[in-house]
Amino acid sequence: MDKISKEIIFSKETIQKRVLELAAQISEDYAGKEIIIIGILKGAFVFMADLIREISIPCIVDFARLASYGAGSDSSGKVVMTKDIETSIKGRDILIVEDILDTGLTMQYFVDWLKERNPKSLKICVLLNKRKRRKVSFKADYVGFTIDDGFFVGYGLDFNEMYRFLPDIYVININ
Ligand code: PRP
Repeated sequence: MDKISKEIIFSKETIQKRVLELAAQISEDYAGKEIIIIGILKGAFVFMADLIREISIPCIVDFARLASYGAGSDSSGKVVMTKDIETSIKGRDILIVEDILDTGLTMQYFVDWLKERNPKSLKICVLLNKRKRRKVSFKADYVGFTIDDGFFVGYGLDFNEMYRFLPDIYVININ
């Protein structure tokens, strides 16, 4: 059996502070508007729950479920949507909320999907921007933290569906 060790990379306090900053920026940028915030399940649910409670403009929330990783820490590269959004986004200002941007394949798939429905605007907010393994050029509009290669868990992020419940973000080593 694999031996997993983990160390905190972003504490609960550090995350909370950054979420407040992101929420303030988003509130300023969208002042006077109403936005639709779409979270990508499962990973984004914790971040999104914290973020929407700090944003000071009215928002509607929805979720899609997309998965790209197989079991373990390697991406299969194939994106599958198992739950679509339920809100009409035509002519609306959309903010996608995601836990981590890695190869970018999940986000590319979803952005292409949403663009076909003609939103007025489409922006991306990611908590973690992992630049090294990018396969498609994607730039998020709002980034919590930029990180190097490594496997991250906690605050919604999983390893084999474990650790999503941890309040801090950890990098794990698998031996
Ligand atoms: C993770 C993460 C992103 C995606 C990022 O989701 O939540 O959605 O991978 O990787 P990419 O940029 O290489 O596409 P995952 O497929 O593990 O599903 P989950 O959100 O249910 O954990």
